[in-house]
Amino acid sequence: MKRSEAQRRLRALRAEIRHHDYLYYVKDTPEVSDEAYDTLFRELRQLEERFPELATPDSPTQRVGGMVFDRFPPVEHAAPMLSLASDRDEAALRRFDERVRKGVGGAVRYVLEPKLDGASVELVYEGGTLVRASTRGDGIVGEGITDNVRTIASVPLRLRDEVALPEFLAVRGEVIMHLSDFEKLNERLMDEGKEPFANPRNAAAGALRQLDPTVTASRPLDIYVYDVLDVRGYEITSQTDALDAIRAWGLPVTTLIETADTVEQMLAYHSSLLQRRDDLDFEIDGAVIKLDEFAARRRLGATSHHPRWAYAYKFPPRREVTRVLEIVPSVGRTGVVTPVALMYPVELGGVTVSRATLHNREEVARKDIREGDRVRVQRAGDVIPQVIERIDEPDRKRGPRFRMPKACPSCGTALTERGPFTVCPNSFECPAQLAGRLEHFASREALDIEGLGEQSARLLVSTRLVRHLDDLFDLTPAQLRQLEGFADKSANNLVAAIKQSSRVPLNRFLYGLGIPEVGVTVARSLAAQFGTFEALRRAGTDDLTAVDGVGPKMAEQIAGFFASEHNRDALHRLVGKVTLSETAPVSSGETLTGVKFVFTGGLTRLSRSDAEALVASLGGRAMGSVSKQTDYVVAGTDPGSKLAQAEQLGVTVLDEEGFIALLRDRGGAV
Ligand code: IVH
Repeated sequence: MKRSEAQRRLRALRAEIRHHDYLYYVKDTPEVSDEAYDTLFRELRQLEERFPELATPDSPTQRVGGMVFDRFPPVEHAAPMLSLASDRDEAALRRFDERVRKGVGGAVRYVLEPKLDGASVELVYEGGTLVRASTRGDGIVGEGITDNVRTIASVPLRLRDEVALPEFLAVRGEVIMHLSDFEKLNERLMDEGKEPFANPRNAAAGALRQLDPTVTASRPLDIYVYDVLDVRGYEITSQTDALDAIRAWGLPVTTLIETADTVEQMLAYHSSLLQRRDDLDFEIDGAVIKLDEFAARRRLGATSHHPRWAYAYKFPPRREVTRVLEIVPSVGRTGVVTPVALMYPVELGGVTVSRATLHNREEVARKDIREGDRVRVQRAGDVIPQVIERIDEPDRKRGPRFRMPKACPSCGTALTERGPFTVCPNSFECPAQLAGRLEHFASREALDIEGLGEQSARLLVSTRLVRHLDDLFDLTPAQLRQLEGFADKSANNLVAAIKQSSRVPLNRFLYGLGIPEVGVTVARSLAAQFGTFEALRRAGTDDLTAVDGVGPKMAEQIAGFFASEHNRDALHRLVGKVTLSETAPVSSGETLTGVKFVFTGGLTRLSRSDAEALVASLGGRAMGSVSKQTDYVVAGTDPGSKLAQAEQLGVTVLDEEGFIALLRDRGGAV
């Protein structure tokens, strides 16, 4: 390459890297993968090495890390927060080990740690008290985010004094967001119509750099500490010492740490960590290999960018670029139709992936993903791979926008919209939903039908022995015997189990129906409040919101479920085949659980508010108006129109004496 050409390329590379630094460190919205960034950075460094006269002091290679942004006070770190030399190549790891052995000139011992994928922070303790916390910034100076870090529950504000407290301690750790919390946060953000985070690292970094610490506090963050940057008044001579002391002071350390003397042990650690990667509730992107003894570390030293005694042996990336071949709608168990991108197969973190979710209609539109587009896909934990973004190709002519079909691809029923989601309302007959619904109906918390799991449910639906949920109750041993995996005994047992399950408490039956948003607890409250299936079926959204734990959104979904024409017939048939029994009371203390009272007229022995409090203490509810769901109207002196309404609707009317007698009967303290 000619010098002038190199000059041009250097300028372009620096501008591009600065742009990505800004997006990554300041905006928390990176637009390229770490791998793509590293490639650019490597090219820049190599080019500057070849043409040293073209190196400039403001080149991105001349600083340790990212960028300092002036929203937060600058904080100089106790020691530079360096980066790690890293690669994904076994040969490079072997070269690192050789260099270390040569430099140390004797036996070496390594500490092996997971490479946590979060936001790096420094914590400073003086006399055992947390006094400062900062982001990495450019590695020398970071942003003071003390108040935000204080909101992280696992960061001790004071160190434990089981071992002697240091006068001064600066440690480095990684702030992370657990995957389960990350998913919940993103769901919440999308519900609020806000942009979700691309990954837990961005979510953690974003949360740390909130100007309002209460916002940080509302984001579930955690920390793992892995390095002592500086310590005074306490002797530490190795990483093993450091980790022991960090633990004893009450700072969180991961449990995944091991030691090694050979490259083979490092490779084994790396592959066992890689295997466990999907089971962890936080993201890791490799193994960090550190020389244990500090004396040996000093012999090797550091560059301005990274220490020569540590190395990150990275995992294959979980984010890659590929092309969308087709977008197909896929119907799930609850009827939600998800647009799925079928892609040119790509390896993500060691797994070949060719399908990724596009979540819902609005997400496809927001990201504007079309068939034929180049996209970045990501896989995190066990989560279904997802398309994160489209990569612009200005010169390519793009296909038409994706449109959700009007009819269910499985059963042809007209689809409906629920917020950003598209739903097939044919809950009980749509083949795509039926096997899943059947399995759920038979599950432990629902009808608890032993011997009816995922596999049998699929078999029953695919052989068309069950075409409607209630067909279940007409199955005969002879029919079951024809199915693969069923013998005389198992067929008889299953039919017996089904028969037995047809006597079922209302709450379990309700849970088994898979009504949107209705889990075990809400099903129990609904059963307690309405008492019968019929009463619940007829309940309006106002009646529903009166139930504990049911908000307006949920009430709408429940009412919609019962109102749907598709469900009406199926539910009618189903109810005809089961015997619904009462829900067992939640606790013996709550002897009026779900019982509804309406008061009218004046009471003489109790005040109205005492009466209402007594009802509530026994698990009952005092309501404002009379409806068919009202259990008792308590009529005092000069009752109003509510008494007439009660008589009209056939609701039991009690006078004050009768009311008090009822309370006493149920154990009320009157
Ligand atoms: S040690 C001088 N240990 O990986 C050595 N870093 O560039 C300092 N990281 O931003 C780093 N897990 O935030 C170390 N167990 C671990 C780590 C770790 C994650 C991060 C660190 C840094 C990046 C490497």
